[in-house]
Amino acid sequence: STCWWEHPTGIFHLTSTLPVIPYQKLTDLYYLSRGGFGTVFKAQHSDWRTTVAIKCLKFDSPFGERERNCLLKEAEVLHKARFNYIIQIFGICNEPEFFCIVTEFMSNGSLDLLLHEKDMYPIFAWPLRLRILYEIALGVNFLHNMNPPLLHHDLKTQNILLDGEFHVKIADFGLSKWRQLSVSKGSGSKPTEMGGTVIYMPPEEYEPSKSRRADVKHDMYSYAIIMWEVLSRQIPFEEVTNPMQIMFSVLRGMRPDTTLDSLPADIPSRGTLISLMTCGWGSNPDERPSFLQCLIELEPMVRKFDEIEYLEAVLEIKRSKQRSSCCAAEPVCEKRSDEGSLNILKTRPSPWPVSFFIHVHILI
Ligand SMILES: Nc1ncnc2c1ncn2[C@@H]1O[C@H](COP(=O)(O)OP(=O)(O)O)[C@@H](O)[C@H]1O
Ligand SMILES: [Mg+2]
Repeated sequence: STCWWEHPTGIFHLTSTLPVIPYQKLTDLYYLSRGGFGTVFKAQHSDWRTTVAIKCLKFDSPFGERERNCLLKEAEVLHKARFNYIIQIFGICNEPEFFCIVTEFMSNGSLDLLLHEKDMYPIFAWPLRLRILYEIALGVNFLHNMNPPLLHHDLKTQNILLDGEFHVKIADFGLSKWRQLSVSKGSGSKPTEMGGTVIYMPPEEYEPSKSRRADVKHDMYSYAIIMWEVLSRQIPFEEVTNPMQIMFSVLRGMRPDTTLDSLPADIPSRGTLISLMTCGWGSNPDERPSFLQCLIELEPMVRKFDEIEYLEAVLEIKRSKQRSSCCAAEPVCEKRSDEGSLNILKTRPSPWPVSFFIHVHILI
């Protein structure tokens, strides 16, 4: 059986249920990120009068059918996987010189920023950290409950986005696969992946012969690493510089440090969280819990906090964000653009064809 996008009329099948957004309705493009695969902009929809995010194909290489199909596949997956904790797709823009998927815009960026920009967010209260972990699990559990199950296979803090109230939306379905299809179809479809990070990848993935059957437990391994990152506010395996070295060590059983040095004593339900985490990143995929089991463990923990405690944690984060952007608007922007993703535009030759600049107004 072939996938719908291999069918010559596949795009029509999708666009009969997903709005087609004309290119000229998207204005005020503001560059957000350039990943291994696509480029993401913030934009305005001129009719809807709202902010959206658009994920486009890279412009430096003339994009072929294969690249277009990857983004189409991502659009189809997002369209089918509609849920509270999954990024919402609004439509696709399908024009000869411009192809992108249009999604809701997440004003608080990705979880890795929230965790590691400690100058901007000196305090990150436990109730909110636990709520974020809980909502990621709710999102992935929904995907695994689809028919056939949808496996994300690229869970990492950069792919966990936060809305205006710091609720979670899982993004980036470029490597996701439908469980039954994956057996015959082989690996994911992002063309120039790798170069990405290896830290969320379960060890059985390095030995492809082993990994097929374990497909369902891949996401749980990544989730356990995310748990550690959220609870420690450290980058996993930061001290190891070589990705090959990380892979060797993980194969030999090394995992992030769970002592008091990394995971402070005041983490609520610390013991339970650590045992969930260590089961989740176990070497034997069969012994890792399902997301259902994980949710059953997390539910009583998030119920311990009341609504006010969550709101206070969110307010604290919002205050720090506002403080760091108003007190030193220029230096903060400068600093962030040097460290973050914006530097790509400064240090690399422009990836955009001239025609692109004529058509859109980039606000940087
Ligand atoms: N809807 C969105 N709202 C805000 N930022 C987004 C949105 N989608 C993506 N981003 C930003 O762009 C980055 C890359 O997007 P992603 O979909 O993960 O593409 P890639 O396949 O290149 O990793 C994210 O890590 C996030 O920082
Ligand atoms: Mg990504």
